[in-house]
Amino acid sequence: MLEFFKVCAFFFAFYSAVKCETKPVAMGNVQTVINSAKLYSEEPSKNYSATALWCEVKKDKNAEDIRAAKFVRHHDKFEFPADIDSANRAYLNFPKEASASASGKYRCEITLLDGQTIVGNMFAYHSAIINNTNRWPVTKSEDDPVLIYAPAITAPLESDAEIECPFGGYPVPSVTWYKDNYPIEFGEKFHWDKETHVLKIKNVNVTDAGEYRCELKNMFPLVYEGPEQTYEAKLARRLEVGSNLGWILPLIVILIILLLLFIIIFVCQRCQKYKSADYNVEARERGLHNDTTPLKNSV
Ligand SMILES: *[C@@H]1O[C@H](CO)[C@@H](O)[C@H](O)[C@H]1NC(C)=O
Ligand SMILES: *[C@@H]1O[C@H](CO)[C@@H](O)[C@H](O)[C@H]1NC(C)=O
Ligand SMILES: *[C@@H]1O[C@H](CO)[C@@H](O)[C@H](O)[C@H]1NC(C)=O
Repeated sequence: MLEFFKVCAFFFAFYSAVKCETKPVAMGNVQTVINSAKLYSEEPSKNYSATALWCEVKKDKNAEDIRAAKFVRHHDKFEFPADIDSANRAYLNFPKEASASASGKYRCEITLLDGQTIVGNMFAYHSAIINNTNRWPVTKSEDDPVLIYAPAITAPLESDAEIECPFGGYPVPSVTWYKDNYPIEFGEKFHWDKETHVLKIKNVNVTDAGEYRCELKNMFPLVYEGPEQTYEAKLARRLEVGSNLGWILPLIVILIILLLLFIIIFVCQRCQKYKSADYNVEARERGLHNDTTPLKNSV
């Protein structure tokens, strides 16, 4: 009897293995391209277009019925509920005005009616761009179509200077720094903070003044399994190093304040004088009124 059960159990396991050979799999469009800014974040784009990621679960030919579906963004674990259409496809729709911050790797999670959850990874690409969150007034280079300039910054002599290169895009762009067209080597003097996107220059002296440029680059295909395209964006800023005559400005301010004080005191003294003169005139007039011979036309 026991033997019989064993055989049955074995047979059942084998049977289900055979039956489950056609496992449910997540399928979809795998990638999309968000097409907002080209070079820097608030640059008006001429070619906005809404786009979407979609996925479905297939076992045989047809898409399986969906109980629930969502998309999870990899880098911040943010969850987006999916829009499900009548053909059992789950969509993550990016609006026309979606920015580079919406780009990234997403995981599509579909829960079927039987409770099974099937997942698949998908990608929303965006070209490397400068994320001009500080809204610097930028100007475009006339010679290089992917280069923009931000206003110069000044660092006092012997201080630590910081030059920001905020950027966006997915795949996360590679960053290269140049000073006056020579590549910068990171170390004691120069430090690039990948988290804050800030280049730190220790203990600046006059030789550190010049043009600093960060170059961003990423690559992705426009269509799934198509050829990869390269995207670039560059930001340049001048660093000016304040001289040791930094105390001149405060001195000038103090001198101006002193001068103003003297002027105020002088003017006030003159005011007092005029006032007393006025008083004297009145008194004199009153004296005249008391005279025996009244003045003509007096009020
Ligand atoms: C703008 O979009 C259209 C269609 O969406 C495309 O054919 C064209 O190449 C795009 N132009 C640029 C400059 O990206
Ligand atoms: C740009 O910077 C802002 C503020 O730091 C941030 O909220 C946004 O996500 C950034 N965009 C990209 C594409 O990194
Ligand atoms: C400025 O710093 C550089 C690099 O640290 C150094 O080579 C140079 O001698 C310094 N110049 C002056 C004037 O101190």
